Amino acid sequence: MGATAVIGAQWGDEGKGKVIDLLAEQADYVVRFSGGNNAGHTVINHLGEFRLHLVPAGIFNSQTTCIIGNGVAIDPEVLLGEIDQLEAANIDTSRLLISDRAHIVFPYHKLLDELEEGRLDANAIGTTRRGIGPAFTDKTARRGLRMGDLLDREGLRAKLEIAMEYANLVLQGVYGQPAIAVEGVYEQCRHWAERLSGIIQQTELIINRALLEQKEVLLEGAQGTLLDLDFGTYPYVTSSHPGASSAYQGAGIGPIRIDHIVGVFKVYCTRVGGGPFPTELNDEHGEHIREVAHEYGVTTGRPRRIGWFDAPMARLSNLVNGYSSVILTRLDVLDQLETIRICTGYRLGGQTLDFPPSSAADLAECVPIYEELPGWLEPTSDFRHVQDLPKNARAYIDRLEEHIQAQVSMLSIGPRRDENIIVRPAL
Ligand code: GDP
Ligand code: IMO
Ligand code: MG
Repeated sequence: MGATAVIGAQWGDEGKGKVIDLLAEQADYVVRFSGGNNAGHTVINHLGEFRLHLVPAGIFNSQTTCIIGNGVAIDPEVLLGEIDQLEAANIDTSRLLISDRAHIVFPYHKLLDELEEGRLDANAIGTTRRGIGPAFTDKTARRGLRMGDLLDREGLRAKLEIAMEYANLVLQGVYGQPAIAVEGVYEQCRHWAERLSGIIQQTELIINRALLEQKEVLLEGAQGTLLDLDFGTYPYVTSSHPGASSAYQGAGIGPIRIDHIVGVFKVYCTRVGGGPFPTELNDEHGEHIREVAHEYGVTTGRPRRIGWFDAPMARLSNLVNGYSSVILTRLDVLDQLETIRICTGYRLGGQTLDFPPSSAADLAECVPIYEELPGWLEPTSDFRHVQDLPKNARAYIDRLEEHIQAQVSMLSIGPRRDENIIVRPAL
């Protein structure tokens, strides 16, 4: 038995939290491998309704060990708040471990994120302002601090001084802001260390041992492939890699240890923040979907932008991740639509494109080519077998499968753990 990676296949918020919570029923380990608390994963199960930002969505299963892997940037303040919230709801968090190699998001990263978005003004990325970009910038610039540094009291202060010297130069010189004192941040670190030191470990050793012992390991993605630094709509992307390559890098396992790569797609598209979005619906259809589906960001509460399913984007997503199967979520959201559109390609300067161009400026010029399918005008949430679904719903799913060029393993037809139709075994 190897690992299974669950990847956001579009612009995030595809329903990864729900899927992980469900699949974790069979998993010994769930490992978050990328992003930070820019993520917002919703889980609705028999224990209640939860919004997770850092804690893996396997935490609700009492036999599952949850790991925040080396690829994640951790804001310890947010993590501690999340642990407290879960404990207050009687969820046992004693099976949570944190990689000592995971980078720390400091308050000055959040401040830098906000200041830079403000400076960019009309050209802003529309980040979640959680400091994720600046924290990953420090990681690649080799001045970041890692969770393991919290365990070394003396070394911690020296490293913090070096990192903050740079942060203060930027705060003062670029943004004209006052410097931040090291002492206060150091004290915060001591507090974080007191509470978290017992669970900060070399998690890549634990995960690899688990794989050797034939344990079931789920790798939990955050964000989505179209927000990837390389393959997303750059520069309107996040500062990490949400795709399959990150699943092994961000957990510390070899690529061939991953048996299954499951892509999670909504049956339409959403995106939060700036950037081109060819199939965006700025009309009553978009409004309808936003309200029916309550499409508002889990992390920031911003209304999500809504669009029709975009096959060129889906093809790229499959191309760069190599999905062994896909899960389609939120089918029920389209129950009331008379007609549904799928973007099959783009028109750009007299050419027809099957894949999105790499330049955001070109993408903004792309005109979607649509095919139209009849809706099914019937509630789908109560179905549990694919053959019982309305004919038009099956036709729509078949069409998406053809466009994505990967097999559908499961349909999600409601936000709760048990609202699914298994189409064929995914794992
Ligand atoms: P994630 O970031 O990929 O985990 O997704 P989010 O939690 O940010 O957003 C997905 C939203 O869709 C959440 O509100 C889920 O409760 C909800 N959801 C997931 N699957 C379904 C589904 O099949 N139908 C409906 N109606 N809602 C769903
Ligand atoms: P989950 O895991 C949707 C988007 C932001 C912004 C861009 C950059 O819930 O799917 P950042 O704060 O990362 O620097 O912002 O990325 N973004 C997400 N959109 N779901 C997410 O996570 C996101 N995480 C970041 O809205 O456009
Ligand atoms: Mg989300």
